[in-house]
Amino acid sequence: MDALSPKILLLCGSPRDGSTNYLASLIARGIEEAGGTPTLFRLSEHTVIGCDACDVCQSTGTCVKTAGGFDDFGEFEELLFDADMFVVVTPVYFANVPSYLKALYDRFQTYWARRYILGNPVEPKRPGALFIVGGGGDPFGYEPVIITTRSVMNVAGFSLGNIYDYIGFSKDDKDAEKEAKAVEDGRGLVEYYKGLNT
Ligand SMILES: Cc1cc2nc3c(=O)[nH]c(=O)nc-3n(C[C@H](O)[C@H](O)[C@H](O)COP(=O)(O)O)c2cc1C
Repeated sequence: MDALSPKILLLCGSPRDGSTNYLASLIARGIEEAGGTPTLFRLSEHTVIGCDACDVCQSTGTCVKTAGGFDDFGEFEELLFDADMFVVVTPVYFANVPSYLKALYDRFQTYWARRYILGNPVEPKRPGALFIVGGGGDPFGYEPVIITTRSVMNVAGFSLGNIYDYIGFSKDDKDAEKEAKAVEDGRGLVEYYKGLNT
């Protein structure tokens, strides 16, 4: 951990290379400008399958799918372990996260088992943040995105702090003002981290 140069993991929850990945690249630029180190894990480039509730992790503390190398969750976990801050950048799908991201989220059951069944010590909380991308126009909002992400971050030892509303953001708009704001928000993540640690 370097108080002035945090390693920030950006998990991009869209199954395609669209506005979410683009937004994340702008945030990453801001992080770099402010002296942080961003790492992008784009679900559009990875395969992560869901949890079958086999419950093996409740006795071993290890996921059989991760241990078997069946998908890319092990790679993601290494990045998460190493991160000073965990940031989720995701589209809204019917008020919640896309099923691809929910599949990854459900694999956090191993963290739950380690903590609540196996009694592993609780580490000091690391900061988390959430960027929500959406087409807009849906009257039901995106509260489930926040609740679900907060629950998942909490079980893995992260505390969801700032939430950024990017409803209406589209990479096709080429809106210089919105893009500059995204870079600025990336810088803000590093400043926030520095504020917590200095
Ligand atoms: C299955 C599906 C459900 C969606 N539901 C919502 C929604 O509830 N609210 C919203 O604002 N946008 C919704 N959208 C629009 C996406 O959030 C929006 O297009 C977003 O920019 C997609 O990000 P991407 O380009 O990175 O894939 C939905 C899109 C899809 C494909």
